[in-house]
Amino acid sequence: MLSEQGAERSREEELAAQEAALKALREKILEWKDTLGCTPSACVTTFGCQMNARDSEKLCGVLKEAGFEICEDEAADLVIYNTCTVRDNANQRVYGRLGHLGAMKKQHPGKRIALCGCMMQEEGVIKRIRESYRFVDLIFGTHNLYRFPELLLRMFDEKEMVVDVWPEGRAIVEKLPVSRKYAFKSGVNIMFGCNNFCTYCIVPYVRGRERSRASAEILKEIEELAASGVSEVMLLGQNVNSYGRGCEGELCFSQLLKEVEKIDGIRRIRFMTSHPKDLSDELIEVMASSEKICDHLHLPVQSGSSRILKLMNRCYSREQYLELVGRLKAAMPDLSLTTDIIVGFPGETEEDIEETISLVEEVKYDNAFTFIYSPRSGTPAAKMPRVMSEEETQKGFDRLLKTVQDCARERVQRFEGRISEALVEGMNEHDASMVTGRLANNLLVHFKGDASMIGSYRRVRLAENKGFYYIGEEV
Ligand code: SAH
Ligand code: SF4
Ligand code: F3S
Repeated sequence: MLSEQGAERSREEELAAQEAALKALREKILEWKDTLGCTPSACVTTFGCQMNARDSEKLCGVLKEAGFEICEDEAADLVIYNTCTVRDNANQRVYGRLGHLGAMKKQHPGKRIALCGCMMQEEGVIKRIRESYRFVDLIFGTHNLYRFPELLLRMFDEKEMVVDVWPEGRAIVEKLPVSRKYAFKSGVNIMFGCNNFCTYCIVPYVRGRERSRASAEILKEIEELAASGVSEVMLLGQNVNSYGRGCEGELCFSQLLKEVEKIDGIRRIRFMTSHPKDLSDELIEVMASSEKICDHLHLPVQSGSSRILKLMNRCYSREQYLELVGRLKAAMPDLSLTTDIIVGFPGETEEDIEETISLVEEVKYDNAFTFIYSPRSGTPAAKMPRVMSEEETQKGFDRLLKTVQDCARERVQRFEGRISEALVEGMNEHDASMVTGRLANNLLVHFKGDASMIGSYRRVRLAENKGFYYIGEEV
């Protein structure tokens, strides 16, 4: 059962309540520090998409302000799992890892464990955790994340497991502290939730209806980010192309992009995710004429078969998708295109998979994320009959994956020898004398360098093609 949402508060009341909770939390953490003999540590583990990653930065912001030391080790005094439920394997991973956390807590009974994110909004999950993972101290959902200071305080004050999950989203609350993972790039939520109800997808049920943030708030946030040294922003939403829809007098997505473009200090603009059915000609024009919008577009297709697309409720046909890709490529010949594809959707046959494979060959994606269909409870597709066996699905998946990889390799080739600008994101994980940079088109390049270069833009020659990335030389 999802819990009651409690009394509605005004925005000012909400902020005051969270600030008061943070103050009280600081006292609690100081007390905890005294008993431990050192600063309590907190680890936030993120599952799922960029939205969850951004939410985790908000959680870390609060934890830092409360006095925790943030670490990446689950031996920490407080561990939070920010969960995903888009496919069942995401859930299974959480249950598996929770078992380990439980064993750690047996050794260190003072350890606290909290769970939040999309999986907590799903029916049946809370019941299972109450029954089988009773050592969990706090559970909250996606709609009340902004009450995290208050929720944490309750966790310290109450002896029983605290469970607070709301069925629906309320007003958007701004101004919570945020601790960014990178100093030089940041995600920015422009909308929450989704109204599309693709028949396989659980996101609309766990993230609620689509709500756009006010453009003034978004632009202010990006200006502040730019002032603090961020040069790359990723505008985040489940369907950014419908930004502002239903909000009287609000900008549409392409107008919003034009405003972001004007902000000094921002050099790269990315966005995610674009639903093909809502991608306007105006957006193509803005992208093509922009200096800052990156020449990369993630455009999930899901299937190359019009019959399956209809069953998925994607609201476009194979032909319409290909026609859209044609318009994009005509306006931006060098655009890198990536996509998401599902294999094994109910009713899908080998012929449908062949159509998907031929679409991949026709579009020539720079990359694609391929998923085996996972039935999600409460979604319409979960009740539709499957045609292919698991084995047939796996075979189709493997064939598709090979096509995707061949295309990706072929596409990467075209950059060989080019000089491009890379944003240095970090040290190379395998070679301490190299740094890793990302090009505007999302391609990774590794080249000689040191930590002082992180966050800077470097011109590099793409010297050696390694299949999916390059070894480069700074010029
Ligand atoms: N809003 C985005 C994607 C959200 S989920 C969009 O519309 O594209 C990310 C990807 O997970 C989806 O694009 C889809 O390919 C995949 N996915 C979603 N539900 C799934 C399911 N039940 N089984 C397998 N893959 C799924
Ligand atoms: Fe899910 Fe479709 Fe919404 Fe994307 S657009 S989040 S796939 S329902
Ligand atoms: Fe997963 Fe929730 Fe994102 S279900 S994909 S974390 S919106």
